[in-house]
Amino acid sequence: MKLLVTGGAGYIGSHVVRIAEASGAEVTVVDDLSTGIVNRVSCPLEEIQLANDGAVSQLTQLMTETKFDAVIHLAAKKQVGESVEQPESYYKDNIGGLANLLTAMRATNTLKLVFSSSAATYGMPDVEAVNEDYPPNPINPYGQTKLVGEWLVKAAGVWGLRGVNLRYFNVAGTGHPGLGDTAALNLIPIAIGQVKSGKSPIVFGNDYPTPDGSCIRDYVHVQDLAAAHLRAVEYLDQPKRSFDTFNVGTGVGASVIEVLDELKKASGVDFEIEIGDRRPGDPPRLVADVSRIKNELGFECEKNLGEIVQSAWDAS
Ligand SMILES: NC(=O)c1ccc[n+]([C@@H]2O[C@H](COP(=O)([O-])OP(=O)(O)OC[C@H]3O[C@@H](n4cnc5c(N)ncnc54)[C@H](O)[C@@H]3O)[C@@H](O)[C@H]2O)c1
Repeated sequence: MKLLVTGGAGYIGSHVVRIAEASGAEVTVVDDLSTGIVNRVSCPLEEIQLANDGAVSQLTQLMTETKFDAVIHLAAKKQVGESVEQPESYYKDNIGGLANLLTAMRATNTLKLVFSSSAATYGMPDVEAVNEDYPPNPINPYGQTKLVGEWLVKAAGVWGLRGVNLRYFNVAGTGHPGLGDTAALNLIPIAIGQVKSGKSPIVFGNDYPTPDGSCIRDYVHVQDLAAAHLRAVEYLDQPKRSFDTFNVGTGVGASVIEVLDELKKASGVDFEIEIGDRRPGDPPRLVADVSRIKNELGFECEKNLGEIVQSAWDAS
């Protein structure tokens, strides 16, 4: 199988590439290296900025030279705070980049696409475990670009695109040395950085309506997530598909304080925890209902929170 992976120099994309190569696929990466790291790329790399004017012709040429069986599209900007400051740039890159990619796919009759979406499409769901039918209501431009991206993927069905949207929950951990999350925007990499520099990790709010008062999230090991992409590509081979959007999570929530307890075990450091103010826009609980992906794709995460935190610590 020949696969095109956009964003393959990134944290998640580089894990997707490794798992695809291990399954025997021939992989090509497209990445502009804006946040990606060239040393993560273990296959041919085409340096293309997907939202630029020339991208359609560059991609069309690439997809004409190599007939790809499927495209896995991860390339995007992903910082929620930055998206609030620079909404135009997020819409241009995340939606414009996807539109250019789809234009080239249509021109070359490349018909299968797995799209990186996000639990950010849900906004602040008020349920124990959120399923894909819950009305999406993203509360920042980043989440909006993911939802509009899903709509665009669905709309492209008109010319025969077979698309699937994977809504990732909180991705963490590392599967290979050198592929760790260096962006340090999420709890686990931030807390590891603080522990390594002798500081106390901060819990933003301990007065939420949760058992220990801190926010609850669904942490997914990046290697489990990477494996879900290959299942999604297989699913696109089915002539009849009932769904185009799937949560990727464990279905199990962990609080910030529980994550930090795991970090104490992984690091062997009995650090202090600081309690800070709540951050605006943080839902108390965001946990995936994973029944659809289990039933339709036969996919379940294998790694637990302890393994996620340990792997992130070991790679740091
Ligand atoms: N990390 C998470 O917890 C998380 C959660 C939900 C969804 N996602 C989505 O998963 C995808 C990958 O995220 P990640 O954590 O690996 O981020 P990352 O920043 O490590 O990877 C993104 C990659 O895409 C490249 N890229 C960005 N914009 C591009 C463009 N316009 N043209 C070409 N290349 C471009 C970057 O250079 C980088 O290599 C993103 O779409 C992100 O929104 C991530």
